[in-house]
Amino acid sequence: MIRNMKTISVIGLGNRGTEYMGFIKAFHSKKAKIVALCDISQQALDDVAPKFSIPKDKQFISTESFFAKGVISDALIISTQDASHYEITKQALLTGYKYILLEKPVSGNKAEYIELRDLAKEKGALLIICHVLRYSNYYGKIKEIISSGQIGDIVSINHTENVGYFHFAHSFVRGNWHDEFASTPSILAKCCHDLDLIAWFVDSPCKTVSSVGELIHFRKENAPQGAADRCMGGCKARKNCPYDAERLYITDPFYKAKFVKYMQRTLTGKAKNSKADVVDAIRNGDYGRCVYYCDNNVCDHQLVTMTFENGAKAVLNMNGFSDKMFRECHIVGTKGELIGYGTKLKMRIFGSRPKNISFGPVSLGGHVEGDIRLVSGFIKLICDEITDLKDITTIDATVISHDIALAAEESRKNGGIPITL
Ligand SMILES: NC(=O)c1ccc[n+]([C@@H]2O[C@H](COP(=O)([O-])OP(=O)(O)OC[C@H]3O[C@@H](n4cnc5c(N)ncnc54)[C@H](O)[C@@H]3O)[C@@H](O)[C@H]2O)c1
Repeated sequence: MIRNMKTISVIGLGNRGTEYMGFIKAFHSKKAKIVALCDISQQALDDVAPKFSIPKDKQFISTESFFAKGVISDALIISTQDASHYEITKQALLTGYKYILLEKPVSGNKAEYIELRDLAKEKGALLIICHVLRYSNYYGKIKEIISSGQIGDIVSINHTENVGYFHFAHSFVRGNWHDEFASTPSILAKCCHDLDLIAWFVDSPCKTVSSVGELIHFRKENAPQGAADRCMGGCKARKNCPYDAERLYITDPFYKAKFVKYMQRTLTGKAKNSKADVVDAIRNGDYGRCVYYCDNNVCDHQLVTMTFENGAKAVLNMNGFSDKMFRECHIVGTKGELIGYGTKLKMRIFGSRPKNISFGPVSLGGHVEGDIRLVSGFIKLICDEITDLKDITTIDATVISHDIALAAEESRKNGGIPITL
């Protein structure tokens, strides 16, 4: 091993964990190496370990067996599902890990994320949360323009998270985030990134939050005539249903190109899949259920209004019904405004001609660019190449987004009353 090579262990070898591991291997192999893996799925260990040459004695089938070895690497990535983040991170901090990259959300319980924040401080550990969007060139450019004072003081922000009808059905109706009690409410699971961005842009404490929203569409009373509880189980409404699982995961050319390959592992639990595996998953697994007959309970749309101590106001609109997945942001300042669609950014300074703003050479779809830069930032951090943590998403920064999301839920469940933070 190269001298001073930093070592990293990973707990949770799903979509996120393996993506981060891939970036470390592809872009940082001179500085860092994955040395140990932990997952409760033997299939996941068997699929992933050979790609990273991880020996048997560094593969762990439970967090208990992993932590029993003490600190075995310089850094740790925790990329398991939401409900396990608190326990695993607490154990990691108590074991003595000093650099931890934890997937969002930290927890849907305030006492838990505050405890982790305080424990990290007490142990002198850096607990970094994967708010990947902050690391993208696009949002970095927005922050830079706001900080430069060009648009003056922020008066209001109107930010929309268009989740995409197919993505919403996949994740929040059929999938891992359909039940707020097993994971977290959709405003926290999907939009803690957006709330984090808004708080980062405004850079002033949030004073009050109010919210309305509900689960309006994905309910049994909205099932079309002839619908069955599974798409490939005698449904007579499939032809005109945009949520038909066979179409989404197999036949639709859009998904073939962009989405389904990435998601097949989620459907089957296996890294390599034949068409028969996917068909079997749709016939028998969660992702072939009719979207109107799932046991989902999270909101499919929600609005959150925020007021900040410096007088700025913001509205976040989360909706699960757009044709495409994209975020829109309109930031209004006293001297000008910024209008962004994720791939395009326009600035209008009052009294001047509007300007298209370029934000660097890389503009990848979704938040892949942010993912890559987050990993680069984490590697720099463990290699002592970052001294200023101002724009690094430590748990201290995350607490704000989580506080707003929980206040939004409290408000929503109480008829939209304002909640003071
Ligand atoms: N930062 C982002 O933009 C972003 C995007 C999507 C998802 N996420 C978050 O990332 C996390 C992981 O999501 P994913 O899609 O990779 O999930 P996944 O289901 O694909 O992977 C989770 C993996 O963790 C393993 N696991 C579960 N419990 C475990 C435990 N107790 N110990 C060890 N391994 C365990 C599972 O077997 C699985 O392999 C979630 O919390 C999710 O909310 C973040």
